[in-house]
Formats: sequence, structure tokens, C-alpha cells
Amino acid sequence: MAASLESIPRRVSLVEVGPRDGLQNERVRLTTDQKVDLVHRLVEAGLRDVEVGSFVHPKWIPQMADTAEVLRRIRKVEGVRYWTLVPNQKGFEAAVEAGARDIAVFLSSSETHNQKNLNRTIAESLAGIREIVAPALADGMRVRGYISTVFGCPYEGRVSFDRVLDTAASLLEMGCMQVSLGDTTGMGTPFQVRAGAARALEQFGTERIALHLHDTRGTGLANALAGLEVGVTTFDSSIGGMGGCPYAPGASGNLGTEDLLYVLAEAGIETGVDLEALLRISGRLENDYGATLNSRLYRYSQSGKSGTWKTL
Ligand code: HMG
Ligand code: MG
Repeated sequence: MAASLESIPRRVSLVEVGPRDGLQNERVRLTTDQKVDLVHRLVEAGLRDVEVGSFVHPKWIPQMADTAEVLRRIRKVEGVRYWTLVPNQKGFEAAVEAGARDIAVFLSSSETHNQKNLNRTIAESLAGIREIVAPALADGMRVRGYISTVFGCPYEGRVSFDRVLDTAASLLEMGCMQVSLGDTTGMGTPFQVRAGAARALEQFGTERIALHLHDTRGTGLANALAGLEVGVTTFDSSIGGMGGCPYAPGASGNLGTEDLLYVLAEAGIETGVDLEALLRISGRLENDYGATLNSRLYRYSQSGKSGTWKTL
């Protein structure tokens, strides 16, 4: 089923996960000031959804230990959602305490990954999430849900997409505004993503589904385009292509925001995000902070051959 350019979405929302998914797996530790500055710059570049950290155990994910401070110090801009990841009740309490208004709950579609990542079964996770979502909504917070390993689990291999859809249905029924389907270790192929995304969109509608792609095997962008062709309009991506889940062996960078934006912008698809500004942020991350960046567009922009990423 080939899509013509006319039939693909004309506007796409990008959820920037670099300050969380990117930095959680980054060798270099940014200071709180640097993280706050990074978030400010991402918002200035036009991003309206930025995931700024997570309220997880600092022993397991030390890079996120200062999330409360980051969240407090960010100069909030009207209309921007500053997401933080919440794994359990304790994390939820910490998020509320830090003034979080936009939280993301998460679980896996495979038992082994859920156990390693969250130290509980999927059923326990769902029950725990239900206890977080209800008070969060009552307090007027926005809640997003993640399902990991949807196109394959590094421990169990293929997962049942029926099960993924059932889990998504549970999260949406609880009141999550959107479910982001996570290809945690980039095992998905464009064919699989196209089929899975089409089923999810048909069942839940465009606004309710996002794709969260990792580029572990070089398929991140192809997978995003497969999703776009069947109508996905929300994509999670990470500045510079940083990132990965520490509880998934081999997990490497998320789909780079610049790489996705290049293709969208060239096709005239609106995002409201400034590509040049993103490349400057990546430059700062690499040159000033020593981060490891895998975005192809950023790497090309640094190749010295061209002086500009636009031409040969
Ligand atoms: P646990 O071991 O089940 O917790 O950890 P527990 O309730 O048994 O308590 C054990 C200790 O942890 C206690 O401390 C608790 O207070 C403490 P102690 O008494 O030993 O001093 N504790 C906490 N501390 C801080 N924050 C908390 C918290 N909860 C308990 N929220 C827990 C459960 C989930 C917290 C732990 O396993 C953990 O932090 N795991 C890290 C999970 C994580 O961040 N994974 C990476 C993000 S997910 C991801 O990357 C995938 C995604 O990008 C989508 C995709 O790509 O597919 C979202
Ligand atoms: Mg991820």
C-alpha cells in the first residue's frame, strides 16, 4: 500500500525525549544548569513537548537524579508540555512534589523486559499505573503512556501485537491521553511498523497513538516514514540521536530529531520546529558537553566537506 505525498499528514507533532531518554543512556553527565539550558533551547527551537527527566531510582539511573530540580528551574513557557517519566507511586509523589503537570507512565509488552526495567510483572504495572492515573487526572495533570518492546524484545524476541493493542486499550481506558508505541531496541522493520501502526490508528484514532523509535539497527527513519504513510502524526525523537534504555541490551540512540525533521521539512510537512536551531543545540551538546551524537544530519553538518548541511 504505497502512499502518495498528498495522502500523508501535513502536520506532525514531535515529542523531544533527548533530555530524558537521550541523557539517561549518555556517558557524559550534564549538570543541572546544562540540562535546564538544553530544555530552554529546545523550546526556543519550537518544540512544544519536551521530556525533561524521570522520577526513578537514582541508583539505577543516576543521570536523572536531579529531575525535580531541573523541572523546578525550567522557565515555563505557556503551551509547552514538560513531560517527566513516573515508574511507580513513589515516583508519582516526587513528581507532584516537584510541580509536574505532564507525566508519562510506562510498561513493557514483554514480561522479561518489564521485570528488568520496573521490577514487577505487567499485571502489577497496570494495576500500579491505574493508581497513578486516577489522582493525576483528578488534579488536572496530563498523562501519557508508553508501551516498550512493541516490535520485539531483546530477551523474548517477537511479541504479540494483539497484546500490545490490549495494553494500549487499558492505558487509554484509564485516561492516558496518548500511548506511545516504543521500539525500545530498534527491532522493528518498516513492514512491521506500517502494519502495527495502521492497526493501532484504526482502533484508537490518530491523536491517541505516537511512535517512539530507536535507531539501533539503522531502521529508525524508515520506520518513522512507514508510520507516517499510514497516518501517524506524533513521533518521539531525540536531539542528536542520543539515547537508549539501560535495561535493554544493545539499546542505542533514539531516532534523531534532526534526521526526522529534515525529511519532514523537505516534504513540506509542518512541525513548527527550526532545524538550524536544532543543529546548533547538537553542536553545543557535542562540543561543549562532550555528548555522543549519532544523528546522521548532525554528523554530516560536521563533516567539514560542505560548510552547510543543505548542499554537497
Ligand atoms: P523497586 O526495586 O521495585 O522499588 O524499583 P521498591 O519499591 O522495591 O523499593 C526499593 C528501593 O527503591 C527503596 O529504597 C525505595 O524507596 C526506592 P531503599 O528503601 O532501598 O532505600 N524507590 C525509589 N527511589 C526513587 N524513585 C522511585 C523509587 N521507587 C522505589 N520512583 C523502580 C522500582 C522502577 C523505581 C526501579 O526499578 C527503577 O528506578 N528503575 C529504572 C527504570 C527506568 O528508568 N528505566 C529506563 C526508562 S524506560 C525507557 O527508557 C523506555 C522508554 O523510552 C520507551 C521505549 O523506548 O520503549 C520509555
Ligand atoms: Mg526509549
